[in-house]
Amino acid sequence: MRRTPLAELLQNELERQDFHPRLPGYKRVYEAIRSAIVSGRLPQGSKLPSSRDLAQELDASRNMIVAAYDQLQAEGYVDSHTGSGTYVADAVPDGFNAKTMLRPAPLAQVQEEAVLSKRGGRLTVEQGFAAYEVQPFALAGQMDLLNFPIKTWQRVQSQVWRREDVGLYDYDTQGGYAQLKRAVADYLRVSRGVTLAAEQVLITSGTQQSLDLVSRMLADQNDVAWVENPCYWGAWSSLYANDLSIRPIDVDEDGMNPSAADFASAPPKLIYLTPSHQYPTGAVMSLARRQSLIDYAQRTDAWILEDDYDSEFRYAGKPIASLQGLAAEAGIHKVLYMGTFSKVLYPGIKLSYLVLPKQLVTPFKTALYDLYRPGQLHLQASLAEFIDQGHFTTHIRRLRQAYSQRRTLLLAVLEKSLHGQLSKIVVDAGLHFLIRLPAHIDDVELTAHCQSQGLSVRPLSRYYIGSTQARGLVVGFAYVDAKDLVESGQRLGHLIKAALEAAPHSTEKALYETR
Ligand SMILES: Cc1ncc(COP(=O)(O)O)c(C=O)c1O
Repeated sequence: MRRTPLAELLQNELERQDFHPRLPGYKRVYEAIRSAIVSGRLPQGSKLPSSRDLAQELDASRNMIVAAYDQLQAEGYVDSHTGSGTYVADAVPDGFNAKTMLRPAPLAQVQEEAVLSKRGGRLTVEQGFAAYEVQPFALAGQMDLLNFPIKTWQRVQSQVWRREDVGLYDYDTQGGYAQLKRAVADYLRVSRGVTLAAEQVLITSGTQQSLDLVSRMLADQNDVAWVENPCYWGAWSSLYANDLSIRPIDVDEDGMNPSAADFASAPPKLIYLTPSHQYPTGAVMSLARRQSLIDYAQRTDAWILEDDYDSEFRYAGKPIASLQGLAAEAGIHKVLYMGTFSKVLYPGIKLSYLVLPKQLVTPFKTALYDLYRPGQLHLQASLAEFIDQGHFTTHIRRLRQAYSQRRTLLLAVLEKSLHGQLSKIVVDAGLHFLIRLPAHIDDVELTAHCQSQGLSVRPLSRYYIGSTQARGLVVGFAYVDAKDLVESGQRLGHLIKAALEAAPHSTEKALYETR
């Protein structure tokens, strides 16, 4: 069958795009059309074929095309006029930086070719980061197993398992083991300036679970969630999978930076952010921004979700107190504070905490139990002992020292290999830093290149919701032992240098940003 020029263009686009293998068909068609619109190949005002015709021409199912059209319409790329057809909108969002919301496609229209439910399809569509999680070098956010005091941990666990306490074999009905909640509360009060009583702590099995619970308990389908852009993908994909409309909010050097248009738009139900050390840029949210956001949440009745995922790791300067504490000081109780043991101990421990405003404690405890039937009380009790016996603080102190040295070393190696081609801003925190690159360097390609040489970094552009011109590499330094760091760092520097030199007309300097 001969195709119309538009079908030809879309077919080419479908073949050209490097889709994630799990991306469902409707998303591919959506991407192909969106990309043709954004690039101007499908001009404003053009009429799109009917879904039936396009389905025939692309040899696709009609449902797939309908779902793609619906998504394009929800995001403002096309307008549908009943009876007359679907047209490219006159004012289309310009892709990445557009302030469009990522709306969940209506459940009935998400077509997943395989056996997944509509929700399941949505949950898997946006992912694709597993491909970047390759050892051995420099995973952003990867913790250091080498330094984990395994012997002490084993000893504490044996002490707990020797207890003749049958309660430890039961489900956890209390939102966490009491001794652990108390230990976490003491720690957060002193180290993070969180204002809380022990009963406000809920022990969860990972930040992902905390986010899932919060979405279910505080938001309904299509409620708006603000997230940072760029954002920790685990967080926004969890909110998205829970049917929230995601509004990406730009981040600058002072953290999340909502514009006047953001403030004027429909208020969010949830605001997710990493104010102490923005993931992945490393920005620390300024006091003025914190105050303005707290004030906004109070006025609009939004909930702030503060993800304090790596604040144990500040290598210089004063620790930055939590946003929760700042709000509580002003008598505002709109912040839910989240933290995890994934980074400080090890990810597989699957223990984390959610600090709730008092009025949410009972309903959340009930929901936690009904949804997940938590347990593993021996593990919770062991962690409580580990903290109470002082091993936790000793461990953090050791890690902080080791990571600080590795960070300094890697920066020095990179600086040397790049011969001043990078300018530098220093923020002393976290487990990773960001090397910004000029916009014409393809950071996904560079990442793949690094990976083929055993260097695991992540491309900054993949952390954006929608397209972006921002390019860079997110480089973890904590996981790599100092003895391997020099050699790995030199190879990384070499690859970056080659990319900078290979790129034509490269006058722009990479911004070597250690945030
Ligand atoms: C911003 C952020 N929050 C939280 C987490 C950890 O989540 P979890 O507790 O589910 O392991 C990570 C892990 O990479 C992260 O980067």
